[in-house]
Formats: sequence, C-alpha cells, structure tokens
Amino acid sequence: MDRRQFILLSAWTVATLKLSLLQEKIISEACADDALGTLKNISKRNGYAFGCAIKSNFFSDKAFTEAVIREVAVIVAEYESKRHVIEPIRGVFHYEGMEKIVKFAQMHRMQVRGHTLVWHAYQPSWLVSALEVNPQIELLTEYIQKVVQHFRGRISSWDVVNEAVNPADGRADGLRNSVWLKAFGPSYIDIAFRSARKADPKVELVYNEMATEGVWKYGDQYRYFTLKLLEGMKSRGVPVDSYGLQAHLEPNDKPINQKKLASFLGEIKGMGLRIQVTELDVRDYKIGRSLESRNTIAADETRRFLDVVLDQGVTDYVITWGLSDRYTWLNDGKIKPLLSATPSPLPLDEELHRKPMWFALAKAFEK
Ligand code: XIL
Repeated sequence: MDRRQFILLSAWTVATLKLSLLQEKIISEACADDALGTLKNISKRNGYAFGCAIKSNFFSDKAFTEAVIREVAVIVAEYESKRHVIEPIRGVFHYEGMEKIVKFAQMHRMQVRGHTLVWHAYQPSWLVSALEVNPQIELLTEYIQKVVQHFRGRISSWDVVNEAVNPADGRADGLRNSVWLKAFGPSYIDIAFRSARKADPKVELVYNEMATEGVWKYGDQYRYFTLKLLEGMKSRGVPVDSYGLQAHLEPNDKPINQKKLASFLGEIKGMGLRIQVTELDVRDYKIGRSLESRNTIAADETRRFLDVVLDQGVTDYVITWGLSDRYTWLNDGKIKPLLSATPSPLPLDEELHRKPMWFALAKAFEK
C-alpha cells in the first residue's frame, strides 16, 4: 500500500466510524425523548445485557437495523457462525457472513456471541459422511481451534456444544445419539470444550440446551440428564463456564413451573456455573386466541420465566431469538404450518412497535 492509498484508507475509516457514531447518536437521542428508554439501557442499568439473534442480510432493512442499534447490546448470528455456513466444503472456510456481523457489532460497540461449534443439526453433508465412514477426532478439534482462533478477541462467548441431551433416544446417560456421539462416544463433549479453551483462554464457554424450561413429557428427564452432564463435566475439570437456556417458551405445550425451574437452576448455580438466556422467544401456536390475548399470555410467560432465572443472580445476558416478528425462524416453511396463526414470538411486532413482551422484559430487568 503506497502513502496515497494509506491516506485514502485512513480517511475512509475515520469517515465510517464518524457515520456509525452519528447514526448511534441520532438513534439514542430519539430514544432519549422516550421515557420508556430501551432494553439496552434498562438491562444495562440493572447489571444485564439484552441482545438478539440476527442474520447479516437483515442489515439491508434500515428501520430494523436502527431498532437493533437502539435496543440491543449483544448480538448472535442466527445462521452465519454455524458449521454448514462456515465450512460447507471440507477445508474451505467462509467467514464473510460472520465478519459482517462482527464488524457491525464493533461499529456499534456490541458484544458478539458465536453459535454453535458442535451441533447434531445443520452440519455440512461432507462432515456427516466423514464422521460415519472414517471418524477422526481432528474433524472436531481442528475446526473448533481454527474458528475460535479466527474470532479470538472479537467474540466474547461461544455455544461450544448445542443440544447434546435427548432422553427420547433412550440412552442410560440421556445423551442424544448424534453423529458426534456415534463417532467418538460421550467424550466428544469434553474434547470440544477443551479444544475451545485451548484456542481462546478468555472466551466464555457455554453448554447450550433446549427444552429444560417447562413442564412436558420429557421435561424432567431433560433437566435430570442435563444436570448429570454438567456435574460430570465439572467433576472432570472440563472448562465450561455457563449453561445456556435456549428458552424457546411454549406456554401452551411446555408451561413454566416456577418451582421446578428454580430447583433446576439452583443446582446449576450450585455447580458454580453462570446461567445465560440464549434464544428466548415464545411459540404461541395452539393458543388459538386473539393476537392481543396471545401477546398477553406470551408476556406473562416471559415474565414468569425471567423472574426465576434472574432471581438466581448469575445471569449476564438475555438474548431473544430475533428482535421483531418481522424476522422469526418460527415463520419458516417447516414450523409455520404447525402454528394456528402467524407467530408473534418476539419483543417488537412486525412494524417494530413494542409489544407486551417488550414490557415484560423491561420489568424483569428492573425487578
Ligand atoms: C435456527 C435458525 O433460527 C434458522 O434460521 C435455521 O434455519 C435453523 O436453526 N435452536 C438452536 C438454533 O440452537 O440454532 C436454531 O436456529 C433454533 C433452535
């Protein structure tokens, strides 16, 4: 790079930074008139960080992006940091999508979470074949070390392993009989966490799990086997920092029992783990009532859930799986047919107006 190019690049960088700070100032001033404040400010002044999942293609939606800048302090990639996106072909790494999200976060002084290094779903087909035909542990360890090192210092937290428990598979240890477990046995979980810690000594390492919040057919078993998994990891000195409650709440089919949830979370707290909320939304299908009543039910369930979680005193962030009903995974082709109505799972409606769930989050943070 010659001197002229360096000067041009420097000028561009300064201009970009000024623009983002101006954008943020305009948005925050607009909110300053709003007595309600924002979930970013309300959570921060009560010792939490509120965040949401996003996709990099959402940035083309200016109004939505401004709502994210206004409300959010932590972002997680709904899609871009999953292995089928990052390594679609063996040895060929694509970080572009995640880099857009990380750069957006840096411009707006947000934290970034990585989701997820090891999962049974959405794995590239080449990987599933390799694990089934010729399972080499490097398929696990080298990927984790490469990706965690690439984002070291820019990603503050990783979901290292996602959804390793599944009582319905009938194993004595309650673990999901996934391609990872078949390839390496239960030790793949410990190995994954040790690999991530080796790649970044500071990043928060999270074990993320679904369906441990409410009362349903497998609810007690999910909680029991998740506790056994975490206890075993801690007893073996595995570097796990936090438990991630996905919190895809279902008030109709998996209602929160505050006593059961408090007992479960109390045991996790007792292991010295932090308890983070990583994918909160409220799947309001089958409620079958008016949108207004569904939104009220969703807000009540959000509040009943968060009151128990935040009462443990070991939560740093609460992240919703999307910010607005304009973009929710529950509207995709697979899940939406199950719904009795257009889903309304998030704090803002499709027009980016605050819903009862927004107020439930604000009240929970301020409690
Ligand atoms: C979902 C995303 O929201 C979808 O866009 C994608 O097609 C599939 O994955 N639990 C998880 C998330 O841990 O990774 C899932 O995200 C939702 C359920």
